[in-house]
Amino acid sequence: MAETSQQHAIDTMFLEERTYPPPEDFAAGANAQAGIYDIPFEQFWEQEGRERITWFEPFTDLYEWEPPYAKWYLGGKLNVCFNCVDRHVEAGDGGVVAYHWEGEPEGDARAITYADLQQDVVRFANALKKLGVQKGTPVGIYMGMVPELPVAMLACTRLGAPHTVVFGGFSADSLSGRMNDMKCEVLITQDEAWRRGSKVGLKKIADEAMADAPGVQSCVVLRRTGSDTPMQEGRDHWWHDLVGDVSDDPQSCPCEPMDSEDLLFLMYTSGTTAKPKGIIHTTAGYLVGTSTTHNYIFDLKQDEDVYWCAADIGWITGHSYIVYGPLCNRTTSVLYEGTPDFPDKDRWWSIVEKYKVTILYTAPTAIRSHMKWGPEYAQQHDLSSLRLLGSVGEPINPEAWIWYREHIGSDRTPIVDTWWQTETGMVLITPLPGVTTLKPGSATQPFPGVVPAVYDEQGNEVGPGGGGYLVLKRPWPAMLRGIFGDDQRYRDTYWSKYEDIYLAGDGARIDQDGDYWLLGRIDDVMNVSGHRISTIEVESALVDHQEVAEAAVCSRADSVTGEAIVAYVTLKGGGEGSIEKLEELRNHVSQKIGPIAKPANIVFTPELPKTRSGKIMRRLLRDVANDRKLGDTTTLADPTVVDEIAKRASDEKAQEAEA
Ligand code: PRX
Repeated sequence: MAETSQQHAIDTMFLEERTYPPPEDFAAGANAQAGIYDIPFEQFWEQEGRERITWFEPFTDLYEWEPPYAKWYLGGKLNVCFNCVDRHVEAGDGGVVAYHWEGEPEGDARAITYADLQQDVVRFANALKKLGVQKGTPVGIYMGMVPELPVAMLACTRLGAPHTVVFGGFSADSLSGRMNDMKCEVLITQDEAWRRGSKVGLKKIADEAMADAPGVQSCVVLRRTGSDTPMQEGRDHWWHDLVGDVSDDPQSCPCEPMDSEDLLFLMYTSGTTAKPKGIIHTTAGYLVGTSTTHNYIFDLKQDEDVYWCAADIGWITGHSYIVYGPLCNRTTSVLYEGTPDFPDKDRWWSIVEKYKVTILYTAPTAIRSHMKWGPEYAQQHDLSSLRLLGSVGEPINPEAWIWYREHIGSDRTPIVDTWWQTETGMVLITPLPGVTTLKPGSATQPFPGVVPAVYDEQGNEVGPGGGGYLVLKRPWPAMLRGIFGDDQRYRDTYWSKYEDIYLAGDGARIDQDGDYWLLGRIDDVMNVSGHRISTIEVESALVDHQEVAEAAVCSRADSVTGEAIVAYVTLKGGGEGSIEKLEELRNHVSQKIGPIAKPANIVFTPELPKTRSGKIMRRLLRDVANDRKLGDTTTLADPTVVDEIAKRASDEKAQEAEA
């Protein structure tokens, strides 16, 4: 086999030997103290479950593990909205700010207290009830980063209605596919969203999606920009009209008691087939898992910290660490609507200064963008309030880690590099600030009670220094409860390689100190800007174009987005590609999946490299895309094909360089 990206990653990371022990003052006051690792697993989760959550009826059993399905906090009754909102108001903390919302247009800002949040949620839940939403009604949500997005999610949980939030950058096809899979009856959206100074017509996309999702009977539309928006009589309702005449008294809409294992939400994510998987998260384990990790990993001090997770709520990071975990812990958070570079590249840093943000959680791709723009944007602002930084979504290269610490954290703040997935629901491998000695590029240690390992092909544990497959050996509270409607795919994807052991789909290595180094995906899933996109999803979108005969997709390394998508396309009738065709295909993918899935490069080629049995050899395409020496080509049906592709790819690069 050719030098793989895994080996390459190991080589570079071996060179990284800098370490950062926790600052003494941080350690002294940290929520997590070293002894936390000694608490027995069951005792730990039992205690967190009892103390962190308010139960309508206490749970009777901690967990049940019948592989590959786990249940947690059995017999308990609770409500997520009650835990995230009502109980804080009842405790006298209604005046505490839940979200400092910062709109993208400057000056557009709102402070939303827990009391405000309760009123808004109660009103909106009452509005949803008018549309027939009740316990068990599946609801789709397609919105930007407006305060009404968490309000909509919380209103659903208040009623016991499971939701699926679809990221506002997804296309109509992606939205309808998800709503059809979940059988959504109601869709909540907004007229338009702000994005880098322009308006994105979410309702227009939602209209297209609803045309393909006949199960959606009602659509609620929030007015955000005020542009003219066609409304379909009988189906579409303005948010402000619906809430106009309903009560905001919590008694008028009590929180529905839910079973610990009732469905809370589905989050769709890319796998190795074209169809996204609906990852199932249930009520109690998810809430305990996210709030517990949020407390210890971010060292949250309720009355002192201003916490900002700069992800989008449309992804799992936003669900767990903007909405449910932080609100359960009565956090004061920042919620920002726009992009980091609007109106200028210092926008984030002006927000940190304005709200005196103390904890910032973002993705390596964002850090690398800031690196590219230069430290001067951060230097224009007072960032001295920051005391802790976090990273998530992809391996963080040591260079970006160091830049983040030096330029954003004044060479003083710990950085928590948190490894987890849509499926895990909560962070599983991470430093605990105040306890863990940090190493740039390493996610360091399993969270208390989490038991990962690195396995070889046969299922033997790989010793220190060796690369292998990251697995999890024991269940954890926020773990997925399956793939919606597809038990077989759940078993095949995560549980078939090793018996009763969860296969994460990532490569990893453990060093001599027992610290984990994540090495990227081992399957046909790409990670672009911290977002998962499957190669096959993009291939299907390309082949869907009438002129495309065949397509193969892989990723190449990119200095900002981590990975970038490269597509190799054969046109029908042996047609030659052109710049126009290239743009047309990129737009086609954008329309089918969303702009995030647009290939960065498309190489037109008369043939794809295939084995004699007809399988496309993606490994070789990856080598070409990454300018690596070609691996073994002896199994190819026609070995000259890759040479031709490599030539075309380098011609394309030369053309690009000229342009
Ligand atoms: O490959 C790993 C990478 O992101 C994948 C999960 O993607 P998703 O479900 O979209 O969730 C992203 C946010 C939790 C993982 O399989 N990943 C996530 N965090 C890290 C990471 N890779 C390395 N280091 C991380 N800290």
